[in-house]
Amino acid sequence: MDTQGFAIAIMAAGKGTRLKSKRPKVLHEIGGRSLLLHVIAAAQQIVPAEQIYCIIGHEAERVRSAIAPTGVQFVMQEEQRGTGHALQMVKAYFALSGQTIPENLLVLSGDVPLIRPETIELIRETHLRERAAMTILTAVPPNPTGYGRVLRVDPGKPEVTAIVEQKSLRPDQLATPEINSGIYCFQTAALFEKLDLLDTNNAHGEFYLTDVAAMMVADGQRVVAVKADSADEVLGANTIAEMMHLDAAMRLNTARRLMASGVTIFQPETCVIDAEVEIGADTVIEPHVQLLGSTKIGSDCRIRSYSVIEDTVIGERVTVRNGCIMGSAFVADDAVLGPYAHLRPESRIGEAAHIGNFVETKKVTIGKGSKANHLNYLGDAVIGEGVNIGAGAITCNYDGVNKHQTTIGDNVFVGSDSTLVAPVTIESGSYVAAGSTITETVPTGALALGRARQTVKPGWVEQKAAQRKARKD
Ligand code: UD1
Ligand code: CA
Repeated sequence: MDTQGFAIAIMAAGKGTRLKSKRPKVLHEIGGRSLLLHVIAAAQQIVPAEQIYCIIGHEAERVRSAIAPTGVQFVMQEEQRGTGHALQMVKAYFALSGQTIPENLLVLSGDVPLIRPETIELIRETHLRERAAMTILTAVPPNPTGYGRVLRVDPGKPEVTAIVEQKSLRPDQLATPEINSGIYCFQTAALFEKLDLLDTNNAHGEFYLTDVAAMMVADGQRVVAVKADSADEVLGANTIAEMMHLDAAMRLNTARRLMASGVTIFQPETCVIDAEVEIGADTVIEPHVQLLGSTKIGSDCRIRSYSVIEDTVIGERVTVRNGCIMGSAFVADDAVLGPYAHLRPESRIGEAAHIGNFVETKKVTIGKGSKANHLNYLGDAVIGEGVNIGAGAITCNYDGVNKHQTTIGDNVFVGSDSTLVAPVTIESGSYVAAGSTITETVPTGALALGRARQTVKPGWVEQKAAQRKARKD
């Protein structure tokens, strides 16, 4: 593809007043990623990051720091005086920075996040083929209210006469079904020439980029429209409700993509699956599961209801029983987790290991086939293979100031309710008796008992009763 002569500007400076939120609109998230990152990801499929100009203004530093890792360029729009004003800032930026002005400029909206690279490509190709000064991406959604409307010379022809904003529609124009998506392609020189002629004589007192269409037509320049395949793709997000509609649409797309590759998802509309999640074939996802961030799950797994799994890598044939919570963890093949296991960051669960009911792990490596099935806390520990951790046993990793390491060798048996006070080492093949408090190394092959001895007082109950009776008499 020839990307020479094309740059992309993304309008992302607006406050998003209609959201009634402190967070800038373009940093609101759908499908687990900010609106703006969705748009940039699509744009990067068309041109390299350094040819993408992100116009920022409201909470600019917050937006810049969230977006900077993508490598795009930033154009400041200190005061947000409308979409036309946003592009005036791009013109000024080129003049000031001395960067080469691209022949054509694609303009995307930071709040139209479902746009696909294929559709940006469609508008780019149409623009070149039609030799247009301005090409507008349009759609015909079920309800066009609120959007700018695109007026064509003739319904069957690509030529446009004007874009009219909702508030400026004449009664006879209200029924116009074709909306402006807020996505355009311009001949840069023609656009830059018109930007200086915009005014604010309109319902919002703003510089409307959309006015450029009629101005070009008046000058005999060619303005055309091209319809997106699906209206869903160009829906805007002006309110939280609209945004959640897009979120649901995006997640359903993700679920469909996964199902098409052999994943079974029961009642996908109840699951929250982020856009980047990957899942292998023949894995089953039960209702009400959340799979977030960069989570990757292998094939032939079963993820049972109410589990919330974030940024976690899971191998093959893993069973995650109900209600598990995982963040930044690694789970090897054939492991069995839960119900109600909590894997905190840097938990590495080995092959065929079992981490069971109400067990919490953190910064721990657990070897192949080891089991911790009931009510454990395992933190800052390296645990070998074939280890059995009895019910209620815990690592005491924290002394109030520092964290300390527990090391457990292969084939160790830790009895129930033991307290392993770190730093401590339990060497391979040793036993810890139930209820022990372990503060020193347990050598290979040894049994460690660290508990008070049991004393038995025969007949104590009867003696007590006799004493009580004697006092009363
Ligand atoms: C705009 C279009 C409308 C179209 C709709 C599609 C105009 C005048 N209207 O309306 O025809 O149907 O998009 O979604 O363009 N922005 C800036 N700086 C500003 C103002 C806005 O960067 O000064 C950014 C916003 O952050 C947003 C985008 O431009 O990402 C669109 O602005 P918004 O105010 O949402 O325009 P709409 O009213 O939706
Ligand atoms: Ca909008």
